[in-house]
Amino acid sequence: MKFFLVFLLYAAALSVALGRRGLRSTVGGVPPMPEGRPTRILIVGATGGTGRQLVEQALERGHEVTALARHPSALRIEHPRLTVVQGDVLDYPSVETAVRGQDAVLSALGHKQFFRPTRILSEGTRNVLRAMDAHRVRRFVCETALGIGDSAGRMGLYYTFFVIPVILPFYFWDKTRQERLIAASGVDWVVVRPGVLTNGAKRGRYRHGRNIGSFLWTVRISRADVADFMLNQLSDNTYLRAAAGVCW
Ligand SMILES: NC(=O)c1ccc[n+]([C@@H]2O[C@H](COP(=O)([O-])OP(=O)(O)OC[C@H]3O[C@@H](n4cnc5c(N)ncnc54)[C@H](OP(=O)(O)O)[C@@H]3O)[C@@H](O)[C@H]2O)c1
Repeated sequence: MKFFLVFLLYAAALSVALGRRGLRSTVGGVPPMPEGRPTRILIVGATGGTGRQLVEQALERGHEVTALARHPSALRIEHPRLTVVQGDVLDYPSVETAVRGQDAVLSALGHKQFFRPTRILSEGTRNVLRAMDAHRVRRFVCETALGIGDSAGRMGLYYTFFVIPVILPFYFWDKTRQERLIAASGVDWVVVRPGVLTNGAKRGRYRHGRNIGSFLWTVRISRADVADFMLNQLSDNTYLRAAAGVCW
């Protein structure tokens, strides 16, 4: 019983800390629309679940796509408008090679090293932002997660009191660093915070905004719909310099 109470306190304190450390954004003013539609886009995390959807849907939309991949053969998508750059997001020269000449960058970076402190998300994102700054690439759309910043607790009770405190505390802590780096950057950014991801089909209908998610129930969305929303952010300024939750 005592252990259970201590655990509850820890989980609640972690959720509060993730809320305070993470990005608190406001959707402010009516910013100008981006000049022209970005055509050349770089996708970071392209071999992952969301990343693969981003590549496929970006090609369907007619973009010139570059994919940054540690293992290009893992992508298994071939298309005349697709270029694959072999590289690691933690290796600045390879990130710079991939970013050079792009109009925009989308990131669906993630990893599975949950049980030890890591800085893969934050340091990888730092490299992307540095290269974007060096090559004057303006637009950055980055996938993080509900549960941090002003979305703390919005993954639902199961995630707030079990999954995040037991399995993902280090991972989510690094996400708070990642979001803060993005917010402090000079690029035109949009942070996209999905609920729990599924491999379901694209519905094309989902909810998005600042107050998305539930403090009680686990909210979900397919990677295909997250990719759809992320690609929409290339030419939509509704959430410019803000974090948008997204779920079904
Ligand atoms: N799973 C969920 O329910 C959930 C919910 C909300 C938010 N999210 C977040 O959404 C994001 C995408 O999740 P996902 O499950 O679609 O992605 P994922 O399948 O985990 O893919 C992650 C991608 O990041 C790449 N990557 C990892 N380390 C890298 C490095 N050092 N250099 C270059 N690329 C690297 C991976 O490449 P390799 O193929 O080489 O490993 C892979 O392409 C993650 O940030 C995740 O935390 C997930």
